[in-house]
Amino acid sequence: MEKVLFINGMGCEKCEARIKAALEAVPGVRKAYASRIARQAVAITEDYVSDRALVEAVAALESFSVEGILPGDLRPDFMTRIENKELADEFIEAQVDLLKKQIGGGKVLLALSGGVDSSVCAALLLRAVGDQLTCIHVNHGLMRKGESELVLKVFRDEFGANIIFIDAVDRFLDKLAGVSDPEQKRKIIGGEFIKVFDEESAKLSGIRFLGQGTIYPDILESKDGIKAHHNVGGLPEEVKMELVEPLKLLYKDEVRQVGAALGLPDTMVNRQPFPGPGLGVRCVGAITRDRLEALRESDAILREEFALAGLDKKVWQYFTVVPPFKATGIKDGKRAFEWICIIRAVNTRDAVTATIEELDYAFLKKVAERITHEVPGITRVLYDVTGKPTATIEYE
Ligand code: XMP
Repeated sequence: MEKVLFINGMGCEKCEARIKAALEAVPGVRKAYASRIARQAVAITEDYVSDRALVEAVAALESFSVEGILPGDLRPDFMTRIENKELADEFIEAQVDLLKKQIGGGKVLLALSGGVDSSVCAALLLRAVGDQLTCIHVNHGLMRKGESELVLKVFRDEFGANIIFIDAVDRFLDKLAGVSDPEQKRKIIGGEFIKVFDEESAKLSGIRFLGQGTIYPDILESKDGIKAHHNVGGLPEEVKMELVEPLKLLYKDEVRQVGAALGLPDTMVNRQPFPGPGLGVRCVGAITRDRLEALRESDAILREEFALAGLDKKVWQYFTVVPPFKATGIKDGKRAFEWICIIRAVNTRDAVTATIEELDYAFLKKVAERITHEVPGITRVLYDVTGKPTATIEYE
């Protein structure tokens, strides 16, 4: 269990050391650290250790007052919502200090998908422990156009992070070949991801910490039993590493503020939601490489046009879908029997219900012309006008 003590009077490094020693002397405390910048001490304990034992151990030092103690995964009522750069900078300063204390000279591993949460987590860890962090980026072939390249450009080229890039495209697509059931597809993608990550992390030595971009809604949902909160499946149970989750008390908008303050590009920080199984759930039915490519290209055109029209700032989620059936068309004066591309653009607050963005007709026409002329295999473009309910946002 992780317990956080909020402490007044920690003025110097010596104070931090005294509190750490006092907490670690409590039977059942596996590890403790204190940060005067964060005005917190953290104790990682066996389940039987009481709050009282921890508070008394600190209070016995007399120079400090303990304001409160909370489980490490509970957001305190007094925690200010991070809604500007100044608050984000304060959070970063406190977290960097806490991370340094938690990790010490150890090595940290992080699965970096390129999503907002894992990217911000990586940037924060880099700020705290630099090259003690190793990121693994798995390209499963279901990324959008240019996504893996952006991860490498930002993290390896600009931030100088250690990144292991795994090209697992063939491995995933071979496993998915012929599989049309949506749940089965999701299982294969999730399961294979854990296998690849495990294999790669087994090749590294001396890794004691596992970074994760868990955020507060993940924790709330896992407490409500809605979903397991670990982004990477059953990993923590299988791999005996200490978890490092610096964003776990933040809401999504706060994570974005922190990401921007850490210097991540806007395209990464304000990225629209993207499902874990990636384009896999939009290449409806059994995935084929040519249809997946048509999906990726049409999606890239849609995103480009949304950005040009300023719609990327306005619409919550927008993408293309390519179902596994063909319709007759004409290309270069000849009959062409090719796929249909569906455009989806929705607005929502919480993804539970969603309404359709009423796209301008001239805009739709331009996108349809570009997709049918630039993307091999597509002769027809449709616009989905169904809200949620009755339709879900994704097609699978
Ligand atoms: P639906 O299709 O259920 O989607 O209306 C609601 C939101 O959830 C996203 N979504 C997923 N995200 N893994 C994810 O991480 C998934 O398997 C998944 N399925 C849907 C979807 O993009 C939308 O934002």
